[in-house]
Amino acid sequence: MTLQEHIAQVAQQVEQFSASSQEALEALRIKYLSRKGEITALFEELRAVPKEEKAQYGQPLNLLRQKAEARINELRELLAQKKAADDVASADLTRTPDPIAIGARHPLSLVREEIIDIFSRIGFTVADGPEVEDDEHVFGLLNFAPEHPARDMQDTFFVEKEEGVQKPTDILLRTHTSSVQTRVMTEAAERLRSGEQSSIRVLCPGRVYRNEAISARAHCFFHQVEGLYIDKNVSFADLRQALLYFAKEMFGADTQIRLRPSYFPFTEPSAEMDISCNICGGTGCAFCKGTGWVEILGCGMVDPNVLEACGIDSKVYSGYAFGMGVERIANLKYRVKDLRLFSENDIRFLGQFQSC
Ligand code: DAH
Repeated sequence: MTLQEHIAQVAQQVEQFSASSQEALEALRIKYLSRKGEITALFEELRAVPKEEKAQYGQPLNLLRQKAEARINELRELLAQKKAADDVASADLTRTPDPIAIGARHPLSLVREEIIDIFSRIGFTVADGPEVEDDEHVFGLLNFAPEHPARDMQDTFFVEKEEGVQKPTDILLRTHTSSVQTRVMTEAAERLRSGEQSSIRVLCPGRVYRNEAISARAHCFFHQVEGLYIDKNVSFADLRQALLYFAKEMFGADTQIRLRPSYFPFTEPSAEMDISCNICGGTGCAFCKGTGWVEILGCGMVDPNVLEACGIDSKVYSGYAFGMGVERIANLKYRVKDLRLFSENDIRFLGQFQSC
């Protein structure tokens, strides 16, 4: 067979290329185009052709190779399309989709957001402040006496200024979010004086630190939400009403509150607020130790000394403040018995809040 006849013969076979599977197609490619394939062999044959005749075969041979490659690519595409169509046709549409692990919001975040949500409905906005604070904002401006025990290393974490030297230093980890009050007040004082701002109404959520041994009931860090309202003619009745509204929104419309006299350096008068036990409804149970009441926060009228220290005229302005522990509220809502669970990130615990 001459080379010409041979080319014509292979060209005819290429025209008839067909394959019912990717494997069959690959076999065709190997048969014709691989190193030992038939078309490759034709190029070998070309080598033996006398020089003067080469030109007349070169072009048809190249065309043949291109055609074979194009045909194989085309068949490959057709097979892929057919497979995709078959897959759709045979898909089981009733099959349960792959389970997607859905994360859960942390219970403390849920509670914090709910507290913010409730107070934002009566005009409170959120203010922020640093966790590493100075003595002035955590204690000084809040009317703590110089020798107050909270200023002691046993209760407060001080930040070392020099390695190994813990005290005296005035930099510490805030022990309460009341420190944000003093930042907000000193910052707003000038605007209140000039009339540019008429009142302060903020919530300060955040993490606080205390030098406590970690146990089921105590931790060296926890979370608080502080509230502060400063305006002209703010009264204790306003405080009580705001807290009653909060308690009913948070724990249900039947919830009662009671305010017991207490002491905080930065409020006068000061009180601690109890709510009727939301577990027994106030009849007395183990959780409320049979009293029917559980303590949830501290509050009071901002001490005039604090207003003045922050640059606010206590003859013109008065205000109330309150501070609550987020873990405490979360315990009441979700009955978490061990405080450590909140910071251990055990997904068996966290997973229970998926639907909240
Ligand atoms: N800062 C107090 C604490 O950590 C809580 C507190 C009590 C905040 C009374 C207040 C308040 O604003 O008026 O125990």
